[in-house]
Amino acid sequence: MSAPVDAYAQFVRQGPGAALARRLGAPRPAALRRFRPGAPLLTGPAVVIGAAAAPHADDVARWLAAAGADVAAAPEATEERFGAVVLDASAVRTTAELASLREPLAPAFRRLAVGGRVVVLGAVVAETATVEAAAVQQALEGLVRTLGKEARSGGTVNLLRVGEAAGQALRGPLEFLVSARAAFVSGQVLEVGAARAAQTPGARTAVVTGAAQGIGAAIAEVLARSGTHVVCVDLAAQGEQLARIANRVGGSALHLDITAGTAPSALAEHLLRRHGGVDVVVHNAGITRDRSFVNLDEGGWTSVLDVNLRAPLRLTDGLLAREGALRRGARVVQLSSINGIAGAKGQANYAASKAGVIGMVRALDTRLAANGGAANAVAPGFVETAMTARMPLLPRELGRRVNSLQQGGLPVDVAEAVAFLADPAAAGVSGQVLRVCGQNLLGA
Ligand SMILES: NC(=O)c1ccc[n+]([C@@H]2O[C@H](COP(=O)([O-])OP(=O)(O)OC[C@H]3O[C@@H](n4cnc5c(N)ncnc54)[C@H](O)[C@@H]3O)[C@@H](O)[C@H]2O)c1
Repeated sequence: MSAPVDAYAQFVRQGPGAALARRLGAPRPAALRRFRPGAPLLTGPAVVIGAAAAPHADDVARWLAAAGADVAAAPEATEERFGAVVLDASAVRTTAELASLREPLAPAFRRLAVGGRVVVLGAVVAETATVEAAAVQQALEGLVRTLGKEARSGGTVNLLRVGEAAGQALRGPLEFLVSARAAFVSGQVLEVGAARAAQTPGARTAVVTGAAQGIGAAIAEVLARSGTHVVCVDLAAQGEQLARIANRVGGSALHLDITAGTAPSALAEHLLRRHGGVDVVVHNAGITRDRSFVNLDEGGWTSVLDVNLRAPLRLTDGLLAREGALRRGARVVQLSSINGIAGAKGQANYAASKAGVIGMVRALDTRLAANGGAANAVAPGFVETAMTARMPLLPRELGRRVNSLQQGGLPVDVAEAVAFLADPAAAGVSGQVLRVCGQNLLGA
């Protein structure tokens, strides 16, 4: 089944549809700025605003300039609209310093370009020394989440909490969040700590489950963009479609029912024998069997838990059990869901499985750290795929609009986040859940 088209968004973007929506005060979702090969990092100059000591401001300005951005010395140094506004509030420790943020931030935020990015740098709350410091650092979340809701024209606003040991590891997450790759990430908080070990040098191999369609196929494509060989896994019944994707990304296809008893050993054996191990594991395959909890039969309950939670646990155990199957610095990325965070009517099985994988990555991350690796989860919101195409019309239309960007994400938006977490650029991001939901109201 092909992904549905957001006909409403297309109607209200121009002509009489736009005029009508304006008159009615109806949502007018902007066309999002997404990755295009060769496009500049930003659509306008960047500006870096410091607050209190602003220990990262100089590094950030240097990194953005090195990535091709035109960095303004101060907000008033240019008349142009800003492609990115970075506020270093990581050294803010008092309510007076918190209050002082408004003066430089408000005029810069007012001049955010279409598809512009705001990134606020904060401290890790647990690393602050006083009650007041913890309070004002927490306050940044309320500020960022509100600006995410007030941003216009596809603008996004996120908070990066910079750990004391982060150092250069801040660069990758910062560049990701200001880039077009983070089009559907807004209102989120990501922590950056000390970088884990570099991945094994040389060609990278990734495995993506459920790669025959939807989000999995997009993940395979985005990973392959940086030269990674992708082993595309799906059910034998999806063989033709899987072969098409594997060919398109220059990868290989592996037919495997991930719930089969032999799947963990078969996967570890395949990856070791054909590729000398794997650098990136993406547990993406997932199913839904929606029913209210009391009407859910044994099969509907266990099949969802089996595919979405038990299989990733068993496959990962199988890889950990085979010496060398997970190469040094291996990164595991697990697909969760905002419904695993918020719960969802009719999805007790699905929500339990998707919350379970969050517990999985947190515990697994500690285990992988010993070998320089890391585990993280991506929690998509409403994404235009075959899965959401099966929803009845009204809940589907509602699902699309209840986020700050007033539209569903595309599979590529989730894929970009997965590829970022799988990349050496995310060496300081571990054991976390990154929501790719356009700041959906669910579980916010
Ligand atoms: N679409 C959304 O809005 C959305 C939102 C939140 C989370 N997610 C999650 O993202 C992931 C991908 O979602 P999607 O919408 O692309 O789904 P999809 O239904 O389009 O594709 C899932 C793929 O997994 C494969 N699969 C299912 N069972 C399998 C098994 N036992 N062994 C091997 N492969 C199997 C299917 O054949 C299919 O190709 C899922 O984990 C889903 O829960 C999706």
